[in-house]
Amino acid sequence: MTKLSVNINKIATLRNARGGNVPDVLKAAVDCEAFGADGITVHPRPDERHIRYDDVVQLKPLITTEFNIEGNPEKRFMDLVLAVKPHQVTLVPDSHDALTSSAGWDTQTHFAFLSDIVETLRSQGIRSSIFVDSDITHIEFAAKIGADRIELYTEPYAANYAADRQAAIASFVKAATVAKSLGLGVNAGHDLSLENLTFFHEQIPWVEEVSIGHALIADALYLGLKKAIQSYKNCLK
Ligand code: PXP
Repeated sequence: MTKLSVNINKIATLRNARGGNVPDVLKAAVDCEAFGADGITVHPRPDERHIRYDDVVQLKPLITTEFNIEGNPEKRFMDLVLAVKPHQVTLVPDSHDALTSSAGWDTQTHFAFLSDIVETLRSQGIRSSIFVDSDITHIEFAAKIGADRIELYTEPYAANYAADRQAAIASFVKAATVAKSLGLGVNAGHDLSLENLTFFHEQIPWVEEVSIGHALIADALYLGLKKAIQSYKNCLK
């Protein structure tokens, strides 16, 4: 079964637009779980323009499914995750000024750094996942690093889906097959939507978890949050 982890950053972005507490991010997380989400993902960025560090601390005791925290493992981020101890930390090489994550790690170049981080997480009982492109070398190095999982950066799949979905998925099937053969769990995320998720799941049914934010929250404007989550879950059946 592929789990759906709902990324609630966009709900925080909406709240931050007015400075108050509407919508309530903590309530939204609990409601997402009640509506069928298998997990909650947050991606605190250094400028806290989406989810805030304090939100992450407050979310931890409320979450009864799986808590995934994504981010660049700088000191402040590592202090946060080691204090909060989520189920999973997804390591993402996003720069401070990045609009959103736009590439996976070069796991070969950053081998020593990532090995230390993964070891630190493991010593605290936290599962590690390394965000990578569908690049076989980077997946092989993720396995050598000792990561528990990789998260495939699916933006290129989503971007090419409409033109030729077989061509768009090909490198991801290959990457996920190699990852599985190396004993890595496979997660996926970025730009997955109601349009492209069903085919992704059909082609790579062994993906353990997809984390989805932007499209799901946008769909919730029309469908409502409950129906949006249920629609995404239906794509994963
Ligand atoms: N995975 C990672 C590592 C991300 O940075 C993001 C965006 O914050 C997502 C998944 C979710 O992408 P989207 O918002 O396009 O669903």
